[in-house]
Amino acid sequence: MFPIPPIASAAAPALPVELSGEAALESWLEALAVNLAELGWLSSTVEGLVPASLLQDLRTEILALHRTNALEVAGIGRGAAHTQDRSIRRDQIAWLNGLSAAQSSLFSFLDSLKEGLNRKLFLGLRRYEAHYATYEPGDFYRRHLDSFRGRSSRIVSAVLYLNEDWLPTDGGQLQIFNRESENEICATVLPEAGRMVFFLSEEVPHEVLRAQRTRYSIACWFRCDPIQGIAV
Ligand code: OGA
Ligand code: MN
Repeated sequence: MFPIPPIASAAAPALPVELSGEAALESWLEALAVNLAELGWLSSTVEGLVPASLLQDLRTEILALHRTNALEVAGIGRGAAHTQDRSIRRDQIAWLNGLSAAQSSLFSFLDSLKEGLNRKLFLGLRRYEAHYATYEPGDFYRRHLDSFRGRSSRIVSAVLYLNEDWLPTDGGQLQIFNRESENEICATVLPEAGRMVFFLSEEVPHEVLRAQRTRYSIACWFRCDPIQGIAV
């Protein structure tokens, strides 16, 4: 099959080139990789990459989990040091298993992110984990790192927000701090549906400010360790 050459026409309007599908994903992945390498973080809309209907379906799932009290109080620390501490973290979570149609579509997107980040940054990502999170009015998550160097295998953190019409007065912003001077705030992100943030799990301190309204999101971590129990 030969590509059909475009029909030359002097009268053709100079339309902006619309990237679609693969090309859009690829140029966005390039921007993600450059930002992670140079700054350690990126806040971006995923409009055009994640269909609005998928965002809506994920939102429907988390609303149902919330309504049926199916989320659990989140903890801090790993293994035996895992505890619940309401002075640090107050959200409630439910892990995704990828089984519903919506979760399966989201996992396909996360697969392409994992593959793209490995290709562009040689991160050696092998898997990801993801949980829904809800913050009730008054809930927050104090400044923290998502993993500790050398101890954990969380490499890249990603958060996808699922809230409609979020206003600054609703609180719950994500504050991202400079990885080189940790008292400098680099970004204050509204958790608005279709926005996604990425940062290096071991390097970038961040904090969820107190929410004034129930706040819905999905947090994901791309990891470099194999699935537990599988020797590779
Ligand atoms: C986390 C986290 C940020 C957010 O779950 O570890 O930092 O904006 N979440 O929800
Ligand atoms: Mn975090």
